[in-house]
Amino acid sequence: MTRQPTDPAPAGSWKERRLPTIASLHRKLAPGTATEGAPGTLRGWLAGRRSSGKLLFLNFRDGSGFAQVVVAKAAVAPEAFENARHCPLESAVEVVGAAFLEPRAPGGMEIRASDFRVLHAADPYPITPKEHGASFLLDHRHLWLRSRKQHALLRIRDEVLYSFREYLREQEFVNADTPIFTPNACEGTTTLFETRYFDRQAYLSQSGQLYNEAVAMSVGRTYCLGPTFRAEKSKTRRHLIEFWMLEPEVAFAELPDIIDLAEGLICHAVSRVLENRAAELEILERDPGPLRRIQAPFPRVTYDEAAGILARKGTGFKPGEDFGAQDETALTEDLDRPLCVTHFPAAIKAFYMEPDADRPDRVLCLDIIAPEGYGEVVGGGQRIHDQELLRRRVKEHGLPEDAFEWYLDLRRYGTTPHSGFGLGIERFVAWMSGLSHLREAIPFPRTLYRLAP
Ligand code: 4AD
Ligand code: MG
Repeated sequence: MTRQPTDPAPAGSWKERRLPTIASLHRKLAPGTATEGAPGTLRGWLAGRRSSGKLLFLNFRDGSGFAQVVVAKAAVAPEAFENARHCPLESAVEVVGAAFLEPRAPGGMEIRASDFRVLHAADPYPITPKEHGASFLLDHRHLWLRSRKQHALLRIRDEVLYSFREYLREQEFVNADTPIFTPNACEGTTTLFETRYFDRQAYLSQSGQLYNEAVAMSVGRTYCLGPTFRAEKSKTRRHLIEFWMLEPEVAFAELPDIIDLAEGLICHAVSRVLENRAAELEILERDPGPLRRIQAPFPRVTYDEAAGILARKGTGFKPGEDFGAQDETALTEDLDRPLCVTHFPAAIKAFYMEPDADRPDRVLCLDIIAPEGYGEVVGGGQRIHDQELLRRRVKEHGLPEDAFEWYLDLRRYGTTPHSGFGLGIERFVAWMSGLSHLREAIPFPRTLYRLAP
């Protein structure tokens, strides 16, 4: 079946030649209009099978979705029926048939087969309908991705990323990505991932922010979106070693501006997920109710006010420290929308944060904590724009001054207040999807003990 290089070029464009998909059949059929589609050929994989004598009910996956295929003994050649009855799960198959609206079928549509062919008969598939443990499934992540739930998660992640880009483009942002190999730290030296860069020491990027600041001084509003790396030695449900971050950065913006931007961005993505991924939320058994209540403005408190709330709740929080997972959950447990916490102590935040003019031991920063226990999804704030102060901070934090000369240059040539934030993609996807652990929010998770597959 594979084309040979010497075969004549196929007629028409790929768009004309490609086969119908389950998703396109769903779009064509609708109650009140078409209840029956034209016959066609679909290619995909056999995801499941149930038989009742002369009828086979196949769970067929073609990449665009899952559909029930009915193979009736009376409607196909004997060989086709035997193939459909015996071919192993996850075999690549070709189905010829027509789609019908069928309220009793999962998804409301079924494909009635007139022919069934096996393109590749699979080996016995290791993932069976029985319950598997998390570590078995993660060892088979490359196959696990085919399951219905993982399929839904991949599509929700795609929706989230697309909606972020869409929102930022509407606000005239320019996407410019930042390097992964870096000569210095951005978010403190304790989680730096060291690597060799030929005969030199280099680090994997913890955040694109510093480079983003340079780009913002060129195009005004920019964002980067890519993988970032933290050598987090703690094993938690909320930390990955490699995670993706969306980081907008805006010239002339101050803290309140960037809080508004974060709120708008989050609300836009939530509404897109609700609008376009309702079926996936249902597969994941994610109650959309709490997501529907996510609306701007989000409640805002300062770090000191948050510390007061925690003292009353008795979580054991020690003022002056960063919030732990329990504190974050306690802070949002009575809320139906995210909480924005500002003005953290300078002592527990990164070197680049602008101090509050009225209270220099506090910085103009924001953390956005998602409700339902999903924790911090956004961290950012206003950046120091004064050269002397920034130089002092670099020294106080024990950072190598010469490595930051280029960054200090930004304060030498037309410096201005500017602000930005980072939003953790996996935390956001986990929140949208109702996942209790980040590892399923990314196709191939990198955690403390896992580098494969
Ligand atoms: O709060 P963080 O560390 O902020 C920064 O890196 C800033 N330089 C961003 C900026 O201002 N441009 O990280 C931002 C977000 C967190 O709120 C969280 O959602 C996510 O990144 N994050 C992680 N997600 C998964 N695993 C980890 N280990 C994460 N560390 C941070
Ligand atoms: Mg943070």
